[in-house]
Amino acid sequence: MPVPVILDCDPGHDDAFAILLAAAHPSVDLLAITTVAGNQSVEKTTLNARRVCEAAGIRGVPIAAGAAGPLHGRSEGVQLLAENIHGGSGLDGPDWRPTFGAGEPAVPQDPRDALALLVDTLTGHPAPVTLVPTGPLTNIATLLLAYPRLTARIERIVLMGGSAERGNTTPAAEFNILCDPEAADIVFGCGVPVTMFGLNATHQVRATPEVVARLAALGTPLSRLCVELLTYFASTYREVYGFDAPPLHDPLTVAHLIDPSLVSLVRAAVRVELTGTWTRGATVVDLDGVTGLAPNAEIGMEVDAGGFWDLIVEAVRVLGGAPERP
Ligand code: BDR
Ligand code: CA
Repeated sequence: MPVPVILDCDPGHDDAFAILLAAAHPSVDLLAITTVAGNQSVEKTTLNARRVCEAAGIRGVPIAAGAAGPLHGRSEGVQLLAENIHGGSGLDGPDWRPTFGAGEPAVPQDPRDALALLVDTLTGHPAPVTLVPTGPLTNIATLLLAYPRLTARIERIVLMGGSAERGNTTPAAEFNILCDPEAADIVFGCGVPVTMFGLNATHQVRATPEVVARLAALGTPLSRLCVELLTYFASTYREVYGFDAPPLHDPLTVAHLIDPSLVSLVRAAVRVELTGTWTRGATVVDLDGVTGLAPNAEIGMEVDAGGFWDLIVEAVRVLGGAPERP
């Protein structure tokens, strides 16, 4: 039976690939997509989710817009959009006009908000559903606060965020967690099984020129789009972090659901730093068990990057993509 999934995301180049993988693979039943402000404003991330679905020929998956900002408002001095990585649109790189002409994607925005779509999907599905957040955790924390009993309808939470090592937005904090540390604290403490794929794992999946060449060789409209996305993503990661090739963080969550052998996991206690002068938003991961705290999450560690990229290339091949409009 495929794993029923709700993807909560902020596309975002790597989020876009999480959508593609979740929609393409028969082991995943993508029930809904909810969006959140993160890499860009929620208006832009929602438009981008629709763009990706339109371009990939993904139809019938409801897409609803969620939180426009963190639970408790903006923290002073904290960068809340990743424009330096994902560009002014959140999905810079491709010229989207050949896909949509002058207009908007035909894939609609659901009239419900993300919270309503989450509730309807969780209560309407016959089995508990896996939540896959790949952006700031505001929507998921809002759900947990408003409907605590719905934790019974959540199988697990498999998220991209945090790090068992360093951060990427501050020396200590990863972007998704830093955007809304209080929301992350609620998610890690909610009692539902949490699996965290942080930077220590996702930095092992780099979109090297060899990977990009494999995608280009598919020669489909969607593969061309993916190459354009990755080319832009590579340029910003080179400029901002000096990386030779950019890490494709978010789809590691979905890849784990498809093939759990791709990433090794260890159980550990995780706490989110809420008050540190220099460390707010850090995920403090007790890998050595020195705190005496009970483990509350599984942590992704060693990744089979080759197996991961095989899944991504196959997903892009299977989807093929909508024909470009004249
Ligand atoms: C995370 O931040 C975002 O920029 C990416 O989409 C990913 O979810 C990596 O820190
Ligand atoms: Ca993301």
